Amino acid sequence: MEYLEKMFSLRGITAVVSGGAGAIGTVMSDALLRAGANVVVWSRTSESIDAFLERYNQSPEIRKRAHGMQVDAGDEKAVADAFDRCTEHFSLPEILINGVGGTRGKMKFIDIDLQNFRDVLDLNLVAGLVIPTKLFCRRWIETQVKGSIINLTSMASYNPLSGVWAYDAAKSATLNLTMAAANEFSAHGIRVNAIAPGFFIGKQNKALLIDEETGEYTERGKAVIHHTPFKRFGDVSELAGATVFLASTQASGFITGVSIPVDGGYLIHNI
Ligand SMILES: NC(=O)c1ccc[n+]([C@@H]2O[C@H](COP(=O)([O-])OP(=O)(O)OC[C@H]3O[C@@H](n4cnc5c(N)ncnc54)[C@H](O)[C@@H]3O)[C@@H](O)[C@H]2O)c1
Repeated sequence: MEYLEKMFSLRGITAVVSGGAGAIGTVMSDALLRAGANVVVWSRTSESIDAFLERYNQSPEIRKRAHGMQVDAGDEKAVADAFDRCTEHFSLPEILINGVGGTRGKMKFIDIDLQNFRDVLDLNLVAGLVIPTKLFCRRWIETQVKGSIINLTSMASYNPLSGVWAYDAAKSATLNLTMAAANEFSAHGIRVNAIAPGFFIGKQNKALLIDEETGEYTERGKAVIHHTPFKRFGDVSELAGATVFLASTQASGFITGVSIPVDGGYLIHNI
């Protein structure tokens, strides 16, 4: 156990999980807490923060290492203020998970609503990557901290998913910027990696994958299962291991610029 403790323990390290009260953010925050980190969840609403923290009402040791802040990750000043408040509350954050993102409906290209398109780019790229990454890396360079960032890529980062144009554009850019930022910040010992979740049924994609009336998989849901060698959707709890691995410098200190698919083999082009 001593070996595992040395390899994966995050004790004494502060992590920020932006979008940390969301479906995937909750699981990733929980993984970091269970590995010993202090975790500050950034979310837009106090209700989502309260719901996240309530999970630990019966676990006082974890509860004291969990904290929530209402922050708009798309607002540079708010992000800078929140970084300082995290430092005061625990210690200077050394891990950032960029968990803000998602899609807003499916449409034909000729029907693209430009406001919707811009909103999805803003959500995934600007709030979901650029603003927090810019601020954290600036502070890490100033303080000579060798921090670590985990972005959220997607199957859409590798191959386009039909009808979600802005999401495809944003997620392929997320993969590209993960590699570009890893290169830029390598001189400072800062690592930038990503996790690419396959298909997990969540609030944002449920209607696309399951027919509300019949409860059966939609044609798209069936296509996903057909294309996934494991022949099932993932369970979000299956993202915990990759999270701790990429967060731990002892375990992944020479790994930067990668995106780890957690997808039941979806990216294998099987016939
Ligand atoms: N759910 C999936 O199957 C799946 C698959 C692949 C990739 N992803 C990616 O994982 C990430 C998380 O997805 P999810 O399913 O957990 O989404 P989610 O909607 O459940 O969580 C996102 C959270 O971010 C918060 N948020 C949105 N804008 C914000 C802002 N400006 N500032 C602060 N918080 C903000 C939301 O309120 C929400 O709590 C996204 O980048 C998504 O694209 C999800």
